[in-house]
Amino acid sequence: MRIGVLTSGGDSPGMNAAVRTVAVTGILRGHEVLGIQRGYEGLLEGDAVPLDVAAVEGITRLGGTILGSARSLVFPTPEGQATARDKILTLGLGALVVVGGNGSLTGAHLLASRPYPPCSIIGLPASIDNDIGHCGLSIGVDTAVNTIVEACDRISDTARAHRRAFIVEVMGRRCGFLAMRAGIAAEASAILYGERQLGEDELVARLRPVLKKVFAPGSGTRRALIVKSESVNVPTATLTARLSEHLKEDAPGVDIRETILGHVVRGGSPSALDRLIAQRLAFAAVHACEQRLSDVMLGWEPPGGFGQETADPSVRAIPLDEVLAETHRLLDGTSPVIRKRVELMNQAEDLLSF
Ligand code: F6P
Repeated sequence: MRIGVLTSGGDSPGMNAAVRTVAVTGILRGHEVLGIQRGYEGLLEGDAVPLDVAAVEGITRLGGTILGSARSLVFPTPEGQATARDKILTLGLGALVVVGGNGSLTGAHLLASRPYPPCSIIGLPASIDNDIGHCGLSIGVDTAVNTIVEACDRISDTARAHRRAFIVEVMGRRCGFLAMRAGIAAEASAILYGERQLGEDELVARLRPVLKKVFAPGSGTRRALIVKSESVNVPTATLTARLSEHLKEDAPGVDIRETILGHVVRGGSPSALDRLIAQRLAFAAVHACEQRLSDVMLGWEPPGGFGQETADPSVRAIPLDEVLAETHRLLDGTSPVIRKRVELMNQAEDLLSF
């Protein structure tokens, strides 16, 4: 069989590990593997290169994606879909493995829902945001969390030296998972995430007592670290400015700074866990192609053990429409996974500024 693999949407550390594993597993099992360049954009142009063992040697440790990535606006349109199907036919693909986040998996489902030409479409979840339904951890999350924790530790060093407060903003367009997980690990004094849906005044009201407590005379603490998710709908600069004013009265002499980590969080060599998740999902993907599964995502330890089992106890196959429906619920906050997460964070809140 000829198997195509592409990486699409926001890159995430571990994508290369997935590409290499599709290639080497595919080749070992007698298939031909093509790397489609620049995500769906490349598919629309039929831009593919053969992936042999030499082409993927040593890429597991690399961040980004050697295939390139893009967010295609044309692909989801009827014309884009028709062109993509033509190219699948011309390239002679019997299977296509799509490694990407929400938009990419939506694209994969679109393609799979009209199964002509016959081609298995398998999605692998990759996004640092961890906002993909039925997926415990998506490829890239663990590395991003580690990067944030390291940055926060460095910021804490300098903050302690000057007895300062810092707001550190981290990526996560519509999901606070990165802020929550990294904030806890970095001993944040407060963690702000969009799922709580607090407005500017409520956030300021919540943070003032935290800062007062941290910098109270005799408190023994010398820095406040506020980890804020990009998903919070209030600009970081606004919060910094307002808290700075309050600090004059609440903790005279203490100032507050902000750091926006931005794309720093998305790059870098993948952690061992991200490599392993990507490798095991990609290995299962080649087997799924052989079994002619289609319109499914392979998820890493989905909460509640959702989906069908595979040979790997941590990997389950979940229909893409169910993945997308659950993703929707994760993003609008109605998923039990989000409710539980917020509940646990509420319980942790008092401990944070302890
Ligand atoms: O979806 C992953 C992500 O890194 C989000 O956290 C962030 O909001 C977005 O992508 C940034 O996208 P771009 O690189 O296109 O600006």
